[in-house]
Amino acid sequence: MTTIPLQDRVRRTARRLALTAGLIAGTIGPAAAANLTVACSALGTESDLCREAAQAWADETGNTVEIVHPPNAASEQLALYQQLLAAESPDIDVLQLDVVWPGILGDHLLDLAPHLPDGTLDGHFPATADSVRSGDAILALPWFTDAAVLYYRSDLLAEHGLDVPETWDDLEAAAAVVQAAERAAGNDRFWGFVWQGRAYEGLTCNALEWVASEGGGTFIGPDGSITLDNPAAARALDRAAGWVGTLSPPGILTYAEEDARAVFQSGDALFMRNWPYAYALGQSPDSPIAGSFDVAPLPRGAGPEARHAATLGGQHLAVSAYTRHPDLAADLARFMTSEAVQRERAIAGSFAPTRPALYEDAAVLEAAPFLAFLPATLREAVARPAAVTGTAYNEASAIVYGAVHDVLSGNADGAARLAEAHGDLMQLSRGGRW
Ligand code: GLC
Repeated sequence: MTTIPLQDRVRRTARRLALTAGLIAGTIGPAAAANLTVACSALGTESDLCREAAQAWADETGNTVEIVHPPNAASEQLALYQQLLAAESPDIDVLQLDVVWPGILGDHLLDLAPHLPDGTLDGHFPATADSVRSGDAILALPWFTDAAVLYYRSDLLAEHGLDVPETWDDLEAAAAVVQAAERAAGNDRFWGFVWQGRAYEGLTCNALEWVASEGGGTFIGPDGSITLDNPAAARALDRAAGWVGTLSPPGILTYAEEDARAVFQSGDALFMRNWPYAYALGQSPDSPIAGSFDVAPLPRGAGPEARHAATLGGQHLAVSAYTRHPDLAADLARFMTSEAVQRERAIAGSFAPTRPALYEDAAVLEAAPFLAFLPATLREAVARPAAVTGTAYNEASAIVYGAVHDVLSGNADGAARLAEAHGDLMQLSRGGRW
């Protein structure tokens, strides 16, 4: 899809919404024109979609909007926001916020409640809406949700008479068969499974899936207890360490989302763990794998406690407490998270809406058919322990992904390294952080 029709459609929608909100009626006219800055990621189509929606709002309100892109990798993005916000910088008005950050950045976010019409959070998944509230305050508006899924090459599985994997054992077996066959056929770069193994937030998400799918818990329980040092968790990490350099490239230890997508989308991997955004890009006309892949729930582990476990992710839009334009910035965030814009983002970019109604929208399901099973995946999805750890979440996550990265790198085995990480988390929590 080209960007022009999308922009036109968003503009028409903007006009409708702006009329409803009384913006065109002169509440905010040229006299009040302001220049706002939105910080949003640039993963795949994100940059264009973000710019088009913001521009549609700007056109209709007579303001101007500038788009800036923080680094794509979650942990680097957070570090930059922390710097900017600690300096109380008014340079960014609206910022894209990972679902695990409101507890960390809360003090620097504008309470949107006084700046928005009542009922702004209606129509979102109730759990998602609740996650952006803090008492009566609204710290952010849900923009899209994320639950990790398994991308698989349907053509190659069919060619080898293999089923979509149900368990990690199935995935390993299928990956070994197809990787050997592709290599024998001359594709030396072909790998069985790509995912995110860099030491950053994305690795915490991957590891949570491996561990939770084996019944090994969520590192830190909802009551704050530290649970990561257990045999199922150690087994899960040791299993993943066995993939590095065998079914997954050695370089996986530096991969974030876009690195995995680059390999899968070039046709050089059988399976990929990624978020929904990779679907639209993989099906785009210039993609070598368009029409040759599909999406399924992530595999489950083995044993009585095993389950399918997808990490719950997603992004909100928040307004900086240091904005010079609180009303306008809140309105821009409201517009960009509206049903119409979420619908466009789902159709053009397979971004999973936070609004249940859109999972019944024919055009959305036609563009991204896997969104039909996503609500079920979301209901079962595993949340990271961000709420219970509050401001310490980022440090807790760094302890987790640091330990996991060591195990993947072959520097320690799962049990020993998890015992050490348990001690580090105890120390952090004893400092009174949760
Ligand atoms: C995605 C998810 C986010 C997660 C990040 C990790 O952006 O939406 O919740 O923290 O990936 O890389």
